[in-house]
Amino acid sequence: MSSTFHVRGGRPLSGEITVRGAKNLVSKAMVAALLGEQPSVLHSVPDIRDVQIVSELLSIHGVKIERDAESGTLHMDPSNVEKAHVADIDAHAGSSRIPILFCGPLLHRLGEAIIPDLGGCRIGDRPINYHLDVLRNFGAVVDKREMGIYITAPNGLKGTKIHLEYPSVGATEQVLLTAVRAQGVTELSNAAVEPEIEDLIAVLQKMGALISLQTDRTITIEGVDALSGYEHIAIPDRIEAASWACAALATKGSVFVRGAQQKPMSTFLNTFRKVGGGMDITPAGIRFYHPGTPLRAIAVETDVHPGLMTDWQQPLVVALTQADGISIVHETVYENRLGFTSALNDMGAHTQVYRECLGGSSCRFGHSNYNHSAVISGPKTLRAADITVPDLRGGFSYLIAALGAEGVSTIHGIDLIDRGYERFQHKLAQLGAECWEK
Ligand code: EPU
Repeated sequence: MSSTFHVRGGRPLSGEITVRGAKNLVSKAMVAALLGEQPSVLHSVPDIRDVQIVSELLSIHGVKIERDAESGTLHMDPSNVEKAHVADIDAHAGSSRIPILFCGPLLHRLGEAIIPDLGGCRIGDRPINYHLDVLRNFGAVVDKREMGIYITAPNGLKGTKIHLEYPSVGATEQVLLTAVRAQGVTELSNAAVEPEIEDLIAVLQKMGALISLQTDRTITIEGVDALSGYEHIAIPDRIEAASWACAALATKGSVFVRGAQQKPMSTFLNTFRKVGGGMDITPAGIRFYHPGTPLRAIAVETDVHPGLMTDWQQPLVVALTQADGISIVHETVYENRLGFTSALNDMGAHTQVYRECLGGSSCRFGHSNYNHSAVISGPKTLRAADITVPDLRGGFSYLIAALGAEGVSTIHGIDLIDRGYERFQHKLAQLGAECWEK
């Protein structure tokens, strides 16, 4: 696929698209299949690059994968799990951070795990210290070598008490995927409780795990000797749904997002409504639309669930360039997720980033040099530009900006968007956008 895309903006998006399973659940549920003694079946799997990467990583570890692209059903048979060569892991991991989550299951299955250099979107340092600390807590030995990080569990993995200094999504998943088959009880406090994590807990429960989630963000896991396979329908992708919602708003359009669910999106829906966006919530999905009256500026900050997701922030900022007045966005999850705003300014937006915590509480980045607050004044007419995708969500946000801008924009590096947005070119065409690859 070509990585350059042209968009003629200025036309409202209108029509219907469908979102399937959430990238941030599907990849983890696929890793969970490694823990089972029998095959697992996952439904509603989107056709995105991250799924391809995890499929390849599972395959090189001996898991037999069959996928029906049309129905989105994935069969995973872990009967013959085997060690993979580090060069293969490195080659297949691409830019994904998922290999770190293979550690617990591989330690249980094979007694060792190897992690190559990890990628993921460039939205801050994205360290893996929590993950390594978690694994050490279970009794794993972490050895940093030239080829990567080599992890073993000479005395097996034992249940433990863990407190996360920050409710990290990945570290919580690391605990879950390791504790379910560790000996004894694990208690995790200050856990992340994102809907995708609750869905992963549902997957693990189907496999025979014993996991309980308390209201104070504590998760208790009683280890079991063996797990079975599972059959599960992945929770819909609420990040993709919100991205299309922001695209509807920024282009003065109307998009019915089939599959979007109200409850996991509740905080986004409140924000969307405060900005002045219209919505019809139905059992089949949600229609998001521009009401035809001026949008309102707001002050928001991102946070862990049930706060406003950091992954909603970038598309929302583009919509806020069209709101009447001064909006403030305080990013508290990643230290460096506002860099994409400079290209928006090149397109005519008026955004300014600050090191200070603006508009809400102070966060852990407050006394550092990270530009993690943005002030956006609008409404501003956007004009076409030549832009390069910086990361997955930033990339989709540029697409939204280009769709709302006057003239033809050229967007480079759109392959990155394929990591998390299924067939987005096709969906854009369905919504009447004028765009083409070259
Ligand atoms: N962090 C550490 N040390 C660690 C791990 C995380 O300091 O070992 C920090 C991070 O640097 C960040 C914060 O903790 O500042 C939160 O990171 P978290 O671990 O929660 O993020 P993640 O598990 O790496 C997942 C999603 C991200 C999403 C975040 C927050 C996947 C594959 N990725 O990342 O999604 O932004 O949770 O909800 O599930 C995306 O989909 O575009 C994306 C980046």
